[in-house]
Amino acid sequence: MDWFKIRSFIAFLWASKNRHGVHSPFVYDLVTKCFNVSANPEKTAAFKKIQKALFSNQHSISITDYGKGSSVFKSNVRKVSDIAKIAGITPKKAKLLLRMADYFNPKNILEIGTSVGLGTSVLSIGNPDAQIVTLEGCKNTAEVAKAVFSQNHLNNIELVVGNFNETLADVLKHQPFDLIYFDGNHQKEATLNYFNQCLEAVHNNSVFIFDDIHWSPDMQMAWEEIKIHPKVSITIDTYFWGMVFFRKEQEKQHFTIRV
Ligand SMILES: C[S@@+](CC[C@H](N)C(=O)[O-])C[C@H]1O[C@@H](n2cnc3c(N)ncnc32)[C@H](O)[C@@H]1O
Repeated sequence: MDWFKIRSFIAFLWASKNRHGVHSPFVYDLVTKCFNVSANPEKTAAFKKIQKALFSNQHSISITDYGKGSSVFKSNVRKVSDIAKIAGITPKKAKLLLRMADYFNPKNILEIGTSVGLGTSVLSIGNPDAQIVTLEGCKNTAEVAKAVFSQNHLNNIELVVGNFNETLADVLKHQPFDLIYFDGNHQKEATLNYFNQCLEAVHNNSVFIFDDIHWSPDMQMAWEEIKIHPKVSITIDTYFWGMVFFRKEQEKQHFTIRV
């Protein structure tokens, strides 16, 4: 952890509450009935099986690097196992995503940033009846994800390959989304750009999840701007994720909650 992350984590702990400090019924219910319950064990096991297979995949692929580039990888030829370990969703986030999938029951889901398909698999396992669209720029990475989906019979996923700058606008034209998981380009301008575009595809009960809002000063600034956007009502900072709600019946309020 670098100093920025240590400082931002201490600030998070200082500001954070558990359910006792939450006075909004909507957020109280979310904490007690979703954040604080266990994820479905069969669904967790299904995710772990896919994660294990990817972690032991020693095949190497050549990567087209989008966004900020990698501070971890020195070369563009990378082992699938390493990509899954570095870029893939962690078990803690996967379990929370499964609980959120259960709680909100989203029918139309968009993931911005597929990588080798771990996060998408969680969304699919969590919501087998949903339509999931996931976006990835790197063709070879997308091929690995496609194989994961077909080997595991995750048939409710449409993977769109191409730069988000070209694919996102097109995908947003077709339908509103109930849940959008932002896990692609972790830079301020790009994040705000995707956020603003996605605002066109929300309804009153949509939820946005932003990964790694305290990953860098840049991402933290993007998060601060998202929080104050007039269309946004409730925001929740769980440190590793920022959640955004648009419920018009709700007065604008921000929560910092340990999960
Ligand atoms: C952190 S990974 C996604 C991890 C995945 N959501 C998961 O949970 O397992 C981000 C992915 O976004 C892709 N990406 C980043 N910027 C992009 C862009 N501008 N256009 C297309 N793909 C991009 C990268 O190639 C990378 O595979």
